[in-house]
Amino acid sequence: MFAWDCEVRADRCDTVPLPDHDKTTTRGHYTFGDNRMAARRLQRLADLFRPSLEAFVSAHVPRPVAHLLDMACGPGHTTRQLAAIVPAARVTGIDHSRPFINDAQRSPLPNVAFRLGDIRRPHREVAADLPPADVLYSRFLLTHLPEPGDALSTWAGYLAPGAVGLLQETAAMAGSHPALARYYELVADLQQRHGQRLDMGRGLAALPDPGLYDVRYSGERRFVLPGDRMAELHRLNLMTWRHDPLAASLDRRELATLDVELAAIAGNHGADVVVEYSMGELVLVRR
Ligand SMILES: C[S@@+](CC[C@H](N)C(=O)[O-])C[C@H]1O[C@@H](n2cnc3c(N)ncnc32)[C@H](O)[C@@H]1O
Repeated sequence: MFAWDCEVRADRCDTVPLPDHDKTTTRGHYTFGDNRMAARRLQRLADLFRPSLEAFVSAHVPRPVAHLLDMACGPGHTTRQLAAIVPAARVTGIDHSRPFINDAQRSPLPNVAFRLGDIRRPHREVAADLPPADVLYSRFLLTHLPEPGDALSTWAGYLAPGAVGLLQETAAMAGSHPALARYYELVADLQQRHGQRLDMGRGLAALPDPGLYDVRYSGERRFVLPGDRMAELHRLNLMTWRHDPLAASLDRRELATLDVELAAIAGNHGADVVVEYSMGELVLVRR
């Protein structure tokens, strides 16, 4: 049962449909929206980060896989990439955004299914009809949760003993252009106001409860990303989060200038701009 629905038609649709028990506060608030623009951004993000997903997953996934879970799958790009990389009998993507799940379901694949659900809720509420997973993947989600360790503990209920959990989260970003550096400062500040952490990738190893998981691998993958494509992604994000109530105290003129600067970098006026990116990675084994 959902408290309210979100019209998919317009870019201003930032309302996330949440079960009644979740609708009250900004705790667990997803800062970057789920409108059409956000979905477009996640498509570009998925293209840009596919090589790092593929390298990580290929190195750590056991074979064969019976059931792979993609926690907070957005419009399903990561789920489809995982299904292409890992031969799995069954792949399930879960997300709490109805527009994203609707999008994901528009491109069906025989072994891939999507469902609406809050991944902070226990297995019996979200996926009781699904078999326990032997692989779980999650990317760019824990950064949005004020209690990421609690989510990991909850996910133990989704997993079979010996199952592998694969997590990827941003550890650090350094832009060679001052506009990018400033953007990262502002987003880190806004996320902090929501009780979230932009550099979640640096904190992954501290999250798992040792009674539930063994840590098999913890590390950072470093690579360089094109500044124009990153600026484009950030600009799409900025268009959403500048309307966030907790961003109301930020300098509107500065945000407008930042928007113009990011647009210029995205338009390839900063052809030599790069982002040095570090992805935090954690591989867990369910006890
Ligand atoms: C930055 S997107 C990442 C999507 C995908 N994992 C990827 O890497 O492209 C974060 C996703 O987390 C989802 N999300 C945030 N909090 C959630 C929650 N409590 N339950 C389910 N999904 C959630 C959002 O709807 C959004 O799709």
